[in-house]
Amino acid sequence: MNRPLLPNKHLPAARRAGAPTTFQVKSFGCQMNVYDGERMAEMLTAQGMNAAEENAQADLVVLNTCHIREKAVDRVYSDIGRMRYEDGTRPMIAVAGCVAQAEGGEISRRAPTVDIVVGPQAYHHLPELIGKAVRGEAALDTDMPAASKFGALPARPRQARPTAFLTIQEGCDKFCTYCVVPYTRGAEISRPCSAILDEAKALIDGGVSEVTLLGQNVNAWTGEDERGRHMGFDDLIRALADLPDLSRIRYMTSHPNDMTDGLIRAHAEVPKLMPFLHLPVQAGSDRILKAMNRNHTVESYLTIIDKMRAVRPDIAVSGDFIVGFPGESESDFEATMTLLDQVRYSMAYSFKYSPRPGTPAADMSDQISPDVMDERLQRLQARINAHQVEFNSATVGKRVPILLERVGRYPGQLIGKTPWLQSVHVTAPHAALGDVIDVDIVSAGPNSLAGEIAGRKAA
Ligand code: 5AD
Ligand code: SF4
Repeated sequence: MNRPLLPNKHLPAARRAGAPTTFQVKSFGCQMNVYDGERMAEMLTAQGMNAAEENAQADLVVLNTCHIREKAVDRVYSDIGRMRYEDGTRPMIAVAGCVAQAEGGEISRRAPTVDIVVGPQAYHHLPELIGKAVRGEAALDTDMPAASKFGALPARPRQARPTAFLTIQEGCDKFCTYCVVPYTRGAEISRPCSAILDEAKALIDGGVSEVTLLGQNVNAWTGEDERGRHMGFDDLIRALADLPDLSRIRYMTSHPNDMTDGLIRAHAEVPKLMPFLHLPVQAGSDRILKAMNRNHTVESYLTIIDKMRAVRPDIAVSGDFIVGFPGESESDFEATMTLLDQVRYSMAYSFKYSPRPGTPAADMSDQISPDVMDERLQRLQARINAHQVEFNSATVGKRVPILLERVGRYPGQLIGKTPWLQSVHVTAPHAALGDVIDVDIVSAGPNSLAGEIAGRKAA
């Protein structure tokens, strides 16, 4: 006797029929991916689709992926494997971002439920790719066209928050021996100054009062003004600072070799430029920096920090570190700990070295064992945390301006950022998001501060 087919979790999920009308974009990895994810969402909205409510079952899920470490890649494939709704259907699945660029068509072979593969320089083609997928055609685009995607994207609409990312530079020519970025994001390119100013103005019109300029090597940005004269990154910052309703400018990520004296001077001279510098060094041993092909030394790095602190003594410095790079000895690692003590970072990101296919370091002998990496990472992170607590505690008792960014968990509570990028919780029922208000910092934890509206406590 024939039995009706019932949804069975062992059967492959069937894709929802028809063209998708709701979508969800999930971004992993760095801020540049967050920015790309926002632009994809804005584009799909402009096409008439709607963002799915949180936890709702979107017809299209875009996984905007990161390839920087193996764990990030594994996460994508496990997410794809779990994409199945209770009724036995699944959404249309698009893999975007750096995994799409690096693995291309291999993704659909490893994960056959993937419908669309689109690289970071091609996502303006997403609407056409969705059309192809609906028709059951192969939908893959990992081109890196000379013409920039930015011109093909819709103008920035009204933003939900007063702070926004703005990508001004993409790609990397530095070829650090551990890193996939030069392969996934291509060569360094700078967006034109006029396009950046236009986007900043649209963001400001849409309610934004702080922009964070983004680039893999953001301080390598170069361009021209309207009369064709050369501009450096510091000139761009000055041009943005002239926009009247913009209160704050930030940028990341910088490379030590592109830290010009002009940029350092801008920190002294441009009040809207916030006193925060994310300047990765990766390691504190010259031998390891050489093997990483960083093209700078510990001393040249410290000289930059000294120059910056000479013009802006309060600047908060943040960094990135890799532990367990091939050949890293105990004394190399100790040198990194010494560097931490010298710089005293306000915050820092740290990672275990992850060999990436196609990069020179992956083939180096003397790979470090996972146990040694674990132990070094713990020591490093304990020291970073101690410095972070110290940095935050030093703010207690001070009156600081915070830009209110989002609502907190309790009635009347808002969360803002200090100029040094610390989060502050404050009860301010009469303030609005986007306001810059003075608060007295009353207590500090490792990850946030508590403040009171200035002057509230009677002296
Ligand atoms: N393994 C571990 N960390 C890495 N990073 C880049 N490539 C690797 C890798 N192969 C880290 C660097 C970089 C940050 C974005 O990620 O610290 O600055
Ligand atoms: Fe990840 Fe780097 Fe690509 Fe950003 S640029 S998504 S961190 S691999």
